[in-house]
Amino acid sequence: MRDGDHGSGVRGWLRGIEVFAGPLPEFAPERAPADPVRLFLSWLSDAVADGLRDPHTMTLSTVDEAGDPDARVLILKGVDTSGWQFAGHGSSPKGHQLAVRPRAALTFYWPEHGRQVRLRGPVTPGSAQDSADDFLGRSATARAESLLGRQSQYLPDTAERDHALEESLALIDKEPSLVDPAWTLYTLAPAEVEFWQAARSRVHTRLRYERSGSSWQRFRLWS
Ligand SMILES: Cc1cc2nc3c(=O)[nH]c(=O)nc-3n(C[C@H](O)[C@H](O)[C@H](O)COP(=O)(O)O)c2cc1C
Repeated sequence: MRDGDHGSGVRGWLRGIEVFAGPLPEFAPERAPADPVRLFLSWLSDAVADGLRDPHTMTLSTVDEAGDPDARVLILKGVDTSGWQFAGHGSSPKGHQLAVRPRAALTFYWPEHGRQVRLRGPVTPGSAQDSADDFLGRSATARAESLLGRQSQYLPDTAERDHALEESLALIDKEPSLVDPAWTLYTLAPAEVEFWQAARSRVHTRLRYERSGSSWQRFRLWS
């Protein structure tokens, strides 16, 4: 794409970029396990085993007070029968959004495998202990920044930020067990989990798990 190419030039350029280059894995939904957690962990393990970059990152989508959607990339902190975990600052925009509307979606994409996983459901904040454990597992700089509680605010002066960060790091150095009480480990307990496998033929395979009481129902979807 050259400077000055606009409009249809951009469209043609985008159309020419290959997607689902493969080789892509097979997905046989009829052999999928009864529990989406097992299938998710097996797809994540495949991504890790094949050396895919940042395999444990995902997009968290939330809705603000006005009903406008918002989304950002986060790191997956855990998965078990209770749900998918992620962590963030309670006073950040996503923290406010989740406090007002505690429902969200998570989207994973592993491009080299042509695999997408989509989840939707209610979100609950974890216990103070679980959140503190997660906080203390973060790097000193990440903890220092978090303690400033300024995430996503305007930053007109980077020197002010550097100075505040230095002071916060000094505080952590003196008191390594210091925990930011606003740091929160959240769990999204999905009502539905969809597994999407691309195919070179473009006849993609989709399987959605829908929660039904304490078990799951599975549905194939048109692609
Ligand atoms: C790969 C990657 C991983 C990230 N992991 C986290 C995370 O685990 N928690 C977090 O609060 N922000 C994380 N961020 C930053 C968020 O994308 C986002 O910028 C920040 O949380 C502020 O979002 P908000 O303004 O919607 O609250 C990550 C960003 C990237 C690109």
